[in-house]
Amino acid sequence: MIPNEDINQIRSKANIVDIISSYINLEPKGKNYFGLCPFHDDNNPSMSVSPEKQIYTCFVCGASGNVFSFVQDYENVTFPESVKAVANKIGYNLNIDVKTKRVNEKYFEILDIASKYYINNLNSKDGNSARKYLNNRNLSDEIINTFKIGVAFSDNNLSKLLTQKGYTINDLTTIGLSGEGYSIYDIFQNKIIFPITNERGEVIAFSGRIYNNEEGNKYVNSKESIIFKKGNVLYNYDKAKSEVNKKKEVYVVEGFLDAIKMHSIGVKNVVATMGTALTKEHTSLLKKLNAKIILLFDNDDAGEKSTLSAGEEMLKANLDVHVVRLSGEKDPDDYIVNKGEVKFKDALKETISFFDFKINYLRKSKDLNQSKDLANYINTVIDELNKTDDEILRDVTINNLVEEFGVDKELILSKLTKNVKPIVIKPKPKKKVRLSANKKLSETVIYIMMQDVKYITRYEKDLGYIPDKVYNQIASDIVAFYKINKEFNIADFISFISESDSLDIVLRIINDNENTEPIYEEFDDYLNMIHKWIKSEQINNLKNSLKLETDANKRLEINDLIIKIKRESDL
Ligand code: CTP
Ligand code: MN
Repeated sequence: MIPNEDINQIRSKANIVDIISSYINLEPKGKNYFGLCPFHDDNNPSMSVSPEKQIYTCFVCGASGNVFSFVQDYENVTFPESVKAVANKIGYNLNIDVKTKRVNEKYFEILDIASKYYINNLNSKDGNSARKYLNNRNLSDEIINTFKIGVAFSDNNLSKLLTQKGYTINDLTTIGLSGEGYSIYDIFQNKIIFPITNERGEVIAFSGRIYNNEEGNKYVNSKESIIFKKGNVLYNYDKAKSEVNKKKEVYVVEGFLDAIKMHSIGVKNVVATMGTALTKEHTSLLKKLNAKIILLFDNDDAGEKSTLSAGEEMLKANLDVHVVRLSGEKDPDDYIVNKGEVKFKDALKETISFFDFKINYLRKSKDLNQSKDLANYINTVIDELNKTDDEILRDVTINNLVEEFGVDKELILSKLTKNVKPIVIKPKPKKKVRLSANKKLSETVIYIMMQDVKYITRYEKDLGYIPDKVYNQIASDIVAFYKINKEFNIADFISFISESDSLDIVLRIINDNENTEPIYEEFDDYLNMIHKWIKSEQINNLKNSLKLETDANKRLEINDLIIKIKRESDL
C-alpha cells in the first residue's frame, strides 16, 4: 500500500499537462490543452486537459480522470503502478516497491535473471564465437549492449541456477525457459539470445537464433505465456517511443534484426513484428504512438502481401499509412549491409502513400495492353477511389488515368459514387444522460459541494443524507474526504474514490455541470427539495405498508403518521 500522503503529494507535485504531454501531443487552447484522445479512434483533438482542475476529459468517448487514471489506462497498469510511474516522472522518491504487488512479478524476476545470465555468457570466454557471429553481422558491442543480446550455451545451467534460487520447476516451464524430460533442461541452447521486452522495457520472452551452422529452425521463441503473446508484441516498441514522438513517424519492419540494424544507423523510430501478420493489438499499439506509419516489409511476395493486408487493417483504424519497398535486397538488414547506410537512407525517402502502393500492386498483376485487363484495372481504381474521402487524391488519380489511357474523364466521374466534399468528422455530441428531477437535483448539490467547501459543511449540517444509495455514498465520501484533508480538490478526490464505482458518476457530474454553472444561492432550496424527497419516500414506504396491513388500529396509526409527515413537510 502506498500511503495516502505520498499519493496526494505526488498528485499535487505532478502537473497533469506535463505528464500527459509525455504521452501525447497537447496544444494550448484557451485555459485548457487539447490533444488526440488515445482511448478511442480520434481524428480531431477531442481530449481536453485542465491545468486548473488537474483533470482530463474526452468529449467524444467520455474518458476522464486525473493524472493517475490517465497513466493507468494508457500504460494498462494498476493504480499503485500508475502512482509509481508518475513519481518516477517527477523525480519523487517513493521508497516503496510497488512491483511486489504484481501477480506475475515472479515471472518478470525470472526473465530478468535469465537475461542477465545470457549477457554474462556472451561476455565470458566461451561467448567468443557468438560475439564473432554478431560482429560479422555488423553489430557493434555498443548495439549488443543496448539490445541486451546474450548467448545460451549447450547446457542446462540456467535451469539449475534458477531452481537453486528457489524458483519451482513449474515456474520455469510455465515461462518457457525450461522443459522437463527425465530431468529438467534448458529450452534455449546454443543460441544467440534476443530479449523481447514489453512497453515498459521489461523482458517478457526470448528469441534464440542459431549461429554456428546448426540444423533446425532459424529462430526459436519462448512459448506464449500469461505475459507473452507473440501477436501482441512489437519488438523495440519501448525504445522507439521517444524517437517516434520526435519524428512523428514510425517504421514497421518484419524482423527484429532489421529493427536493430536500423537503430544502429540512427533510424531509431522503428518497431518489428515477430514474423506474424499484423494483429489488432499491433494496430492499437501503433495507434497510441500517434504518428505516421511506414510499412517496410521484406522484399518478397510474402512481404508485399503483408504490406497490403497490414495497410488495409490500419486504414480501417484511421491510421496514416505509407509504404517503402526496397529493391534488390531481401530486407532492411541486407540492404544496409550490402548497399550501405547512405543508399538505405535514400531508399527511405522514397516513401509512397498506401493508396499509391495499392494501385501499383493492382497494376502489376495485369496486362494493361489487353483492353479487358485495362477495363478491369480502371474499375478497381474507381472502387478504391470510392473508398477515400481525399478529394485531391481523387483528382490526381483521375487525371492520371485520363492522361495515361485516354479514358473519358466524364465516364470516370459518372462512376464515382462519392462526388462529394471530403467528409469532416465532427465529434459526436456526448451522450447526455437523461436524469430524473431528483437525480439532477442530487448531482447539482454534489457538484456545488465540490466547488466550495462551505457547502460541504452546509450539507452535513442541514441534510446529511440523500435517499439514493449512489449519490448518498458520493456525498458522504466528499464529507469524509474534507474531514481528512481539511480542504477539497477534485483531482485528489478522484484518487480517494478511485477504487469505487462512483468514480465514473463523479466525473460525469463534473463534466455535465461545467458549462452550465449551477446557481449557488439556491443551494438551501436544493437541500429543502431533497428534504421533501426524503419525506415523500417515507410516505411511499408507509403507503406500501398500509396496503399490507390488516389490523384496523394499526392502519389508523399509519394513516395518522402519513398526514403528519405531509403537513410537516408541506407536501
Ligand atoms: N521468425 C521466427 N521463426 C522463424 C523465422 C522467423 O519467429 N523460424 C520471426 C523472427 O521474429 C524474425 C522474423 O520472423 O525476426 C522475420 O524472419 P526472417 O525475415 O526470416 O528473419 P530475419 O529478421 O531476416 O533474420 P536474419 O536476418 O537473422 O536471418
Ligand atoms: Mn535478415
